[in-house]
Amino acid sequence: MAINNWYKDKVFYQIWPRSFKDGNGDGMGDLYGVYEKLDYIKSLGCDGIWFSPLYPSPGVDCGYDISDYYGIAEEFGGMDAFKKVLDGAHERGMKVIMDLVVNHTSDQHEWFQKSRQRIDPYTDYYIWRPAKPNGKLPNNWDSLFEGKAWAWDDVRKEYYMHLFAIQQADLNMDNPLVREEVKNILRFWLDMGVDGFREDVITFISKPEGLPDDKFMPASKGIFMFNHGPHLHEYLEEFKRDVFDKYDAMILAEAPLVTPKKALEYIDENNNPVLDMMIQFATQEADSFMTDYIHMPFNLRKLKRTYSKWQTKLDGKGWNMLYIENHDHPRMVSRYGSDDFQKESAKMLAVSYLFQKGTPFIYQGQEIGMTNWYPSDPEMYEDVQTRWQYFNVATKKSPKKRLERLWHGSRDSARTPVQWSAEENAGFTTGKPWFYVNDNYKEINVADQETDENSVLNFYRKAISLRRELSSVRNGNYKEYGKASRHLYTYSREDGKEKILVVCSFSKKKNRKWKVPEGFDISTSELLLNNYESLDGITLKPYETRVYRWRKI
Ligand code: GLC
Ligand code: CA
Repeated sequence: MAINNWYKDKVFYQIWPRSFKDGNGDGMGDLYGVYEKLDYIKSLGCDGIWFSPLYPSPGVDCGYDISDYYGIAEEFGGMDAFKKVLDGAHERGMKVIMDLVVNHTSDQHEWFQKSRQRIDPYTDYYIWRPAKPNGKLPNNWDSLFEGKAWAWDDVRKEYYMHLFAIQQADLNMDNPLVREEVKNILRFWLDMGVDGFREDVITFISKPEGLPDDKFMPASKGIFMFNHGPHLHEYLEEFKRDVFDKYDAMILAEAPLVTPKKALEYIDENNNPVLDMMIQFATQEADSFMTDYIHMPFNLRKLKRTYSKWQTKLDGKGWNMLYIENHDHPRMVSRYGSDDFQKESAKMLAVSYLFQKGTPFIYQGQEIGMTNWYPSDPEMYEDVQTRWQYFNVATKKSPKKRLERLWHGSRDSARTPVQWSAEENAGFTTGKPWFYVNDNYKEINVADQETDENSVLNFYRKAISLRRELSSVRNGNYKEYGKASRHLYTYSREDGKEKILVVCSFSKKKNRKWKVPEGFDISTSELLLNNYESLDGITLKPYETRVYRWRKI
């Protein structure tokens, strides 16, 4: 794991390459665009970049279906453009981590093409099962994206497992040759100079022996069987022993359904950690159940419980990865905040998590408060999961209800191009954008926000620079107040030097009364950050947020 835990002092920016910035006018975001914007990323105060997959891929799942682990897709500029970006980032003191997607490969990957023809050594690289005499599938597991987890291959005349799209075939990680392949991939990128990995659904890589049926779950069958499977820890340990121990790399693991207790089995710093941090999903579930498609009214108490649970249970043992947005969930302003109070709620949401303990991640466009996208026609959606959800799930509902379900649930809401300016195509491309630009780009864009001192963008800059200055944010104790409140989130951070108090209103109401926690005298504090020009005592305006400090020395 990373030596000296350098990642604890970083603020990461996540790039989803297709929609970040097009540098050569073909309508697709690319590394030329990233290179142009390195100073912009740095200007936010970010000093780390996580790239969603850049590898060659047929693009069925926007790059999460990899066909060559050793290359950079031509559409993104190829290897030369990547090396230029990597050097450019390093020159600016920024770390770069890659997405490592090894639960599955594209069905176009050479390994799969050979495996389906039973060409050794690839024959057992994937999870193949013969047809059953009764015509049933090998087991009853569900794919997380489309239908059941099995697809028939006409070449090999067997089923292969796909926990995601049909074209994403699950690797057989129990095969030592596959694990050697993973290690070679890791070494290749680490030797080139990348600083670590975000490991895609890594907790799914070990399937239980015999692949038994799931007898308990009514939907998402199999998930509790292949998540944290029997050999997961052992395989992660092997990757660490054979590879990571020889590099100064940071490892961040995507971990659906993980609890703090479970996370500590992998990231406890006092107990041979095999990972540095984990991406939990719980903070995404304050307005949904298990998946974004099961939408419910936003419940602040649920969010606060999760925030505080992760802050306190990991304290002194493991390190939190902090985020509110990524490429897999709709935009937060439109979910926990409000499109009607876009500016205020975007800033408040930033404060809600940026002053917690951990390493923050910011997803492209979040820093200007980009909102959800509300297309009028389901055919406009691109994402494989979204399309399945529309055409195959809840089909008895009215077309309007079905479309609204996508507005709330689809990942495409967060995948529209970054809004750089009020110019055509939001300044994302001079060509025809590969995907729709959100209609609100004239009101919400980087160029306008650069010139506005009170913009969401400049607020992010302030908040990030503050979090770097405040010793209590890096290491201090976390405490939550007013837990029962359905509208306000109040927390403090404290170390030997200072105490800070953060309040966030998640309410549209004009005059929310804030009960200042006992032991804090606002009249003796410094107000470090807030999102309204004037303050009205302890009465909070819609989505108001404030950060106060008391110095001890
Ligand atoms: C992860 C990725 C997501 C992808 C899936 C399959 O959840 O974040 O974008 O579709 O894995 O690789
Ligand atoms: Ca391009």
